Amino acid sequence: MPNLGLMKDNYRWMAPVYSSLSRWVFGRQLEEAKTCFLSNIPNKTILILGGGDGKDYSKYRQRLQGDFVEKSASMLHLAKRNLQGAALNFILGEPAPAKKYDAILLPFVLDTFSDQELDAFFEGLGGKLKAGGKVYLSDFHQTDSAWQKAGMTFIIRVFRLVTGHVRKDLPDYSSYFDRAGFQLVLEKSWQKGWIKAQIWEQIT
Ligand SMILES: C[S@@+](CC[C@H](N)C(=O)[O-])C[C@H]1O[C@@H](n2cnc3c(N)ncnc32)[C@H](O)[C@@H]1O
Repeated sequence: MPNLGLMKDNYRWMAPVYSSLSRWVFGRQLEEAKTCFLSNIPNKTILILGGGDGKDYSKYRQRLQGDFVEKSASMLHLAKRNLQGAALNFILGEPAPAKKYDAILLPFVLDTFSDQELDAFFEGLGGKLKAGGKVYLSDFHQTDSAWQKAGMTFIIRVFRLVTGHVRKDLPDYSSYFDRAGFQLVLEKSWQKGWIKAQIWEQIT
């Protein structure tokens, strides 16, 4: 059980400017990647892990029910304001270990995990889903484009400096999902595959 009083708020400085910055650099693409499949999930119990300030979900807040879990108190504070009226529990720290969800949303959060954290996360992922549950991943992916690689290196450096990110690269999400026994159901991409929204489900 984490000591919430002592939990470090790595996004304290980034939280107030995060959404404006992301919109300035990527326009509406990151918002679209986070929300393009939301029509698939009305009346379902969802987990939004690392949902940040929640701004991009505000249009859909009437159909969101479940848990919104954040590690940053500053982000969570903004999310509570941006998602007023949603049937969400706002949780600082971690989701309840035994709780299961119909859908788990992972919006640009796994790229902040270390390899060890990813291993542990994917080991427990199946156990957090109800039968037929799905995982909605929105994130940056490795590409062959030189300018996208340079852009990603720059973004990672900024985040390492300002928010203490531990990673120096992007995880290969498909190999984590494959090893955890998931298959890809649906995918949409932007910027020639640099940004992707994906739905994954467990192979039964
Ligand atoms: C790169 S930001 C993305 C924020 C938001 N999802 C968005 O796309 O606008 C990553 C967010 O994940 C949160 N985070 C990182 N690790 C987490 C964890 N283990 N549990 C919950 N939140 C986490 C951070 O506090 C931060 O708000």
